[in-house]
Amino acid sequence: MMFPENFLWGGAIAANQAEGAWDVDGRGPAKTDVTTGGSVKEPRYITYIDKDGNPGKTPNGSPIPEGARYAVLEDCYYPNHDGIDFFHRYKEDIALFAGMGFKVFRMSVSWSRLYPKGDEEAPNPKGVAFYRDVFLECQKYGIEPLVTIWHFDTPLYLEEHYGGWNNRKLIDFYERFARTCFTEYKGLVKYWLTFNEINNTIMMLDLFGNHGGHEEYRAGYQQLHYQFVASARAVQAGHEIDPANQIGCMICGITFYPGTCDPKDILANRHTWEKSIFYCGDVQCKGKYPSFAKRLWAEHGVDLDMTQQDLEELRNGCVDMYTFSYYMSSIVSTHEAKETVSGNFTAGAKNPYLQYSDWGWAFDPEGLQYYLEMIYDRYEKPIMVVENGLGAYDTIEEDGGIHDAYRISYHREHIKKMAEAMKNGVDLIGYTTWGCIDLVSAGTGEMRKRYGFIYVDKDDEGKGTFDRKVKDSYHWYKKVIQSRGTEL
Ligand code: BG6
Repeated sequence: MMFPENFLWGGAIAANQAEGAWDVDGRGPAKTDVTTGGSVKEPRYITYIDKDGNPGKTPNGSPIPEGARYAVLEDCYYPNHDGIDFFHRYKEDIALFAGMGFKVFRMSVSWSRLYPKGDEEAPNPKGVAFYRDVFLECQKYGIEPLVTIWHFDTPLYLEEHYGGWNNRKLIDFYERFARTCFTEYKGLVKYWLTFNEINNTIMMLDLFGNHGGHEEYRAGYQQLHYQFVASARAVQAGHEIDPANQIGCMICGITFYPGTCDPKDILANRHTWEKSIFYCGDVQCKGKYPSFAKRLWAEHGVDLDMTQQDLEELRNGCVDMYTFSYYMSSIVSTHEAKETVSGNFTAGAKNPYLQYSDWGWAFDPEGLQYYLEMIYDRYEKPIMVVENGLGAYDTIEEDGGIHDAYRISYHREHIKKMAEAMKNGVDLIGYTTWGCIDLVSAGTGEMRKRYGFIYVDKDDEGKGTFDRKVKDSYHWYKKVIQSRGTEL
């Protein structure tokens, strides 16, 4: 199938995983800056100094002890501190993207680069200037930036002094940050996403268990509510500042299948879709909580701090488009699994019909078609796949090349299924592959989990020249874009 001429082909990265320069030009730290490197077996840790002055660390996702302060420790390695040095090399990188014919480039703005603490009245001028330069560079090549406003990187100061998203005040701080983006970059950026993978807060608790029982769910639903309101306010501000703005939600898309045809599994699967996927999409696309929200809240005794004004904001702040990441599918069952998945991000039963990556992520292109058709039918809004890719070990071969046929095949099969979904009526407007250039893994902090069409010479200890080198997939993706998806 030939994709439409205006189809947005491109790639995606995030500030905290790519920029580096974590303390340059007045940037403040984010939680990702006190997060160590890990691996498929070893978690990433958050480091701190406890109330007695002793250093310590706790697995990412669990709280630090009472009275402790987040801290960068001397004997730990923090891969996000230098990322892939996009901060200093963005011109070279954008030129390489242009070389592939990118129409769109998804990136995020680091909140603490614009507002180092998060609660200031005015932004950091050097941070504002940096992103303007990046967007101007994109403009030079006719590449549309697609900007994620929040990609897992709340300023550390807001975490420490306000309790992060547990605090309603964050809505105002976020709105100020978002307004700054819309105002400063008016005319340079028109595609925006408010929160990356907003549904992770609850979904990850379900997938991996939690440490705080109902309490943790209660906190999670409350944080989500504040983020929904913040997102809705940003959407309204974005439209008011420039009516040309197209603003989307961003959901971590996993396609869930029932493990058996036992009606109990069918129902459990439906409920997983509701809790993990539809809950956030419904609020952000339809402007109100879905009917099943009451059941979910009752499950954990949730009693939201939610005002009439909040509900009105949600109604007035519906997103213009639905965007999502897609890497894998997963199984829901009330029966004990014969074989379980072992990996860093997936959990539960292994699907015997699918193959798994070295990190335990299921390769399932049909799952992408299923997701696209299901979601488009539900919201009937333009839809975009803003993350999709294969994290894999790459080797530089004797001839000096990186022959990543496995990555080409991963993307080829997913693009084929996107085409099928479009034939079936889905208004799919774009595809940005994840980690179009190798970057620090969010889940494990590794460099060796590589997604890129462009290789970056950096290892898991931060050593390397940081030089860029194109892989076979670079040339392949260029051809795909040039031929509008007919040469796969
Ligand atoms: C998504 C995130 O969860 O998946 C990205 O939006 C992340 O930030 C991507 O990098 C891939 O995950 P990982 O753990 O392989 O980096």
